[in-house]
Amino acid sequence: MNRVIYMDNAATTSVKPEVLNAMLPYFTEEYGNPSSVYSFAQKSRTAIDETRETIAGIIGAAKSNEIYFTAGGSESDNWALKSAAFGLKDKGNHIITTRIEHHAILNTCAFLEKNGFEVTYLNVDNEGFVSLSDLEHAITDRTILISVMFANNEIGTIEPVREIGEIAHRRGIIFHTDAVQAMCHVPINVRDMNIDLLSASAHKFNGPKGVGFMYMNNHCKLEPFIHGGSQERARRAGTSNVPGIVGMGSAALSVSRDYETISSEITALRNYMVNRIMQEIPDTTFDGPSTGDVRRLPGNMHFCFKGVSGDSLLIMLDMKGICASSGSACAAGSIDPSHVLTAIGRNAEESKGALRLSISADTTKEEADYVIDTLKSVVERLRG
Ligand SMILES: Cc1ncc(COP(=O)(O)O)c(C=O)c1O
Repeated sequence: MNRVIYMDNAATTSVKPEVLNAMLPYFTEEYGNPSSVYSFAQKSRTAIDETRETIAGIIGAAKSNEIYFTAGGSESDNWALKSAAFGLKDKGNHIITTRIEHHAILNTCAFLEKNGFEVTYLNVDNEGFVSLSDLEHAITDRTILISVMFANNEIGTIEPVREIGEIAHRRGIIFHTDAVQAMCHVPINVRDMNIDLLSASAHKFNGPKGVGFMYMNNHCKLEPFIHGGSQERARRAGTSNVPGIVGMGSAALSVSRDYETISSEITALRNYMVNRIMQEIPDTTFDGPSTGDVRRLPGNMHFCFKGVSGDSLLIMLDMKGICASSGSACAAGSIDPSHVLTAIGRNAEESKGALRLSISADTTKEEADYVIDTLKSVVERLRG
């Protein structure tokens, strides 16, 4: 095989031709600034309004004006945490999150700690699940925000979001979820799931990079994070990224039309791969919830191969045309073991041979077999 076998869809995804086609006119013919008054800008304005409706519909928001376009997941996470913390500091200074969040959350929490906030990092069990009773016990009368990710980017665990939101609301606390890995991969309904703030990023669901959104319930309007002009109802300044926003809407729409079929096909291929890898490669652990558990992202697989260096594994797979990851793209290259693997109880030695494979609807059985066969021989060579 000479082509690239892409098994890193949790890091980013391809932009589909129909998504690109939807975006193209907004670079060339319809380049008007949506904030301008003349009618030439009307098309751009309408395009972003329509996308706002589309996204609101997909996540079950009550109103489309609860969707704010941003430059991606990291910005949305920063906005949710910093604006909630500083905006509610008269009420309290305590935030609850988990040990397995993405660095967009963890490093923002570290910043807030330096600025006088206290953060509780909840432990997770050996499959990555947060305990609801630990959450209840962590809440104090100074707690102003709970932020728990919807689905983990390394081991695919889908957290009990609805129950977490229910606890938060019972105690009068705002609930934010980082849904960057979940959006368009699992069903989300912000109202049923008691979500006040939600972060998402287009490039994780076949949209373009550098664009995302934040859902902000109209009952908890946060201060802007980016100050400037009056775009996004004066809550997120900056000329709108019209092509990016249109691409995100087009990508979200095409996935959401065929949700269940797509995810059951991906899950079936993922389970086939996991079964073969676990049967054919000895001394391997499969991390996160079991394949039969619906509380796992459809396309996610995570393994640790005993006695193998994860970095060497990735290099050798790359030489065979396979794109994979050791886990979080942001942690790759760092010598510390992944904080997620540490949190689920893997020691440094076990975490060394980590490999995340994340497949998509485009992954074929032929590619899956090629990856498994290559993995078998590469692991054998590295162990030898
Ligand atoms: C769970 C999670 N949150 C946040 C981010 C950051 O999103 P973005 O790349 O759009 O800034 C990522 C990206 O990998 C992620 O997986």
